[in-house]
Amino acid sequence: MASLLSSVLLVAVAYSGYCEEKVFLQRAGKEFNSRQYRSVLTVNNGEKFGNWTWPEICPDNFFAVGFSVRVESKQHGGDDTALNGIRLICSQDESRSFLYYIESHTGYFGEWSHPQYCPSGVLTSFQIRVEPHRGLLGDDTAVNNIKFRCSSNPMLEAAGMDWGEYGFWSENCTNGGICGIETKMEDYQWGLDDSTLNDVRLFCCDKHQ
Ligand SMILES: *[C@@H]1O[C@H](CO)[C@@H](O)[C@H](O)[C@H]1NC(C)=O
Ligand SMILES: *[C@@H]1O[C@H](CO)[C@@H](O)[C@H](O)[C@H]1NC(C)=O
Repeated sequence: MASLLSSVLLVAVAYSGYCEEKVFLQRAGKEFNSRQYRSVLTVNNGEKFGNWTWPEICPDNFFAVGFSVRVESKQHGGDDTALNGIRLICSQDESRSFLYYIESHTGYFGEWSHPQYCPSGVLTSFQIRVEPHRGLLGDDTAVNNIKFRCSSNPMLEAAGMDWGEYGFWSENCTNGGICGIETKMEDYQWGLDDSTLNDVRLFCCDKHQ
């Protein structure tokens, strides 16, 4: 009897392990979410599908100095989703000897790009390129690309797709830089039209004096 019970348990464990691979929306790090931030940067051209997920924040005294994006290439007649995820690379100081990655929910499709870094300084504002909703039978992709401005002033554009148009720039982080991210993600559509990432907001933290 005991051995029957334990083999039933084993099957149950194996089965739930199998199911875990099919969880599409799960939270990654939340270690540093209690860090104080000063403001939230938003833009007004995000799309409407999905829900805001959760903020991810760099460790204390770390600021975003670079980024990488997850982009699905052109599907040639299949369901395009374009930009799926944004990863911020946080660093504690100019030496960039220790880097920490944050990403809100990252979408389901595509490959991560090579990281791009500010030549010096930190990320301070952003702008997104969004394809507007294409109607009932259209193939929505929502966010296609993102640009960041660095405190040292250069503007960096990610290697996204080019449907849609850029909107306005967000406000700038003042006295510090970008230290967190939250994305608005459409749930996996189980074979229907996926748009994945629809909007993003970034958090500004102050530099300690
Ligand atoms: C996300 O938002 C949609 C409406 O936009 C809602 O129908 C759906 O239940 C939400 N999903 C979750 C997981 O909260
Ligand atoms: C943000 O900073 C840039 C570059 O210094 C500047 O051109 C822009 O006007 C600033 N935006 C706002 C809203 O202050």
